[in-house]
Amino acid sequence: MAENIRKKIAIIGLGRVGSSLARLLVENGIEFIGGFSSTVESSVKAIKKIQAGRVLSIEELKDADAVFVCVQDRNIEKIAKKISFQDFAFENMTFIHCSGSYGLDVLSPISEKGGEIAVFHPLFPFIDFEFSLANIRGAYVGVEGPEWLYSLAKRLGLVPFSLPKNRGKYHLGAVLSSGLLLSLLSYPEEIAKELGIPVEAYLKLAENAIKGAMNFSIMDSITGPWKRGDDEVIKKHLENCSDPILYSRLLRRIREVLRENKH
Ligand SMILES: NC(=O)c1ccc[n+]([C@@H]2O[C@H](COP(=O)([O-])OP(=O)(O)OC[C@H]3O[C@@H](n4cnc5c(N)ncnc54)[C@H](OP(=O)(O)O)[C@@H]3O)[C@@H](O)[C@H]2O)c1
Repeated sequence: MAENIRKKIAIIGLGRVGSSLARLLVENGIEFIGGFSSTVESSVKAIKKIQAGRVLSIEELKDADAVFVCVQDRNIEKIAKKISFQDFAFENMTFIHCSGSYGLDVLSPISEKGGEIAVFHPLFPFIDFEFSLANIRGAYVGVEGPEWLYSLAKRLGLVPFSLPKNRGKYHLGAVLSSGLLLSLLSYPEEIAKELGIPVEAYLKLAENAIKGAMNFSIMDSITGPWKRGDDEVIKKHLENCSDPILYSRLLRRIREVLRENKH
C-alpha cells in the first residue's frame, strides 16, 4: 500500500494535463487547493470542470506544499522565473513540471531560491478530460525528484520509473509510441475509407498486435509475409501503397530486427 501523501497541491496551467491531474488527485484523496491558467475565464472554466479547488493568484501559491507546472513546454522557464520573484518560503515547497523533453534545469530559477524541483512525466495521451480519467490507471510516469512523488504516482494508480538523463532520446521514444504511431495508422484509415470497410477493423488489429507485444515481446508478435517468405504478397503491397518509400523503409527495419533477433 502506497504511503499517505499529506501535501497541499496547486497547479499552474489547468489545460489537458493540469485539469486531469487535478481531478485525479481529488479522486484519490489528495488535497488540490486550486490553480490558474493564462486567463481568469479559462481558470474558472477549468475549476468548474475539476469540481474542486479554486482559482488562485500566483501569490496564493504560497499555501501549497507542491506546485505542478503544467504549461506548454515553451512557457515553463518563463513561469519558473516569475515564481522565483515571489516571496515564498521556498525551502518548504516543491515545484514539478510535466514535460518529457526538458530536464530539471528549466526550473533552475526556483532551485536558486531554495525550492525543490522535480519532473513528473505521464506517458499518457491526454486527449480529453473524461477519457483521461477513465483510462490513465496503469499508465507509466517518468519521475525525477523526491521519493514522495513515486508514492504519489502509485496512489494515483500510475507506474513510476526513474527518468533517464537523455531526455531528447527518451521523448523520441514517447512520440514514436503515440503521435507518430497514429500517423502510421492514418494510412490504413485512408485505405479503409477508400475500400468502404470499417476503420475499426484495422484499429482492432493494431490493438491486438500491441496486446501481443505486451504479452510476449515485439519480436515474438511480428506476423506477416516477411516472416513467411511470401515475396509475391510484398510485391502487391508495394503496387498498392501510396507511400512505397515508407513501406520499403519499414520493411527493411522489420527484416533487420527479425534477423538480429534470429527469427
Ligand atoms: N498532452 C499530453 O498528452 C501530455 C502528456 C504528457 C506530458 N505533457 C506535458 O504536460 C505539459 C502541459 O501540456 P498540456 O497538453 O496540458 O498543454 P495544454 O493543454 O496546452 O495546457 C497548457 C495550459 O497552460 C496554461 N498556460 C499557458 N501559459 C500560462 C501562463 N503564463 N500562466 C498560467 N497558465 C498558462 C494554458 O492556459 P489557457 O487554458 O488559458 O490557454 C493551458 O491551460 C507540457 O509540459 C507537456 O509536455 C503533455
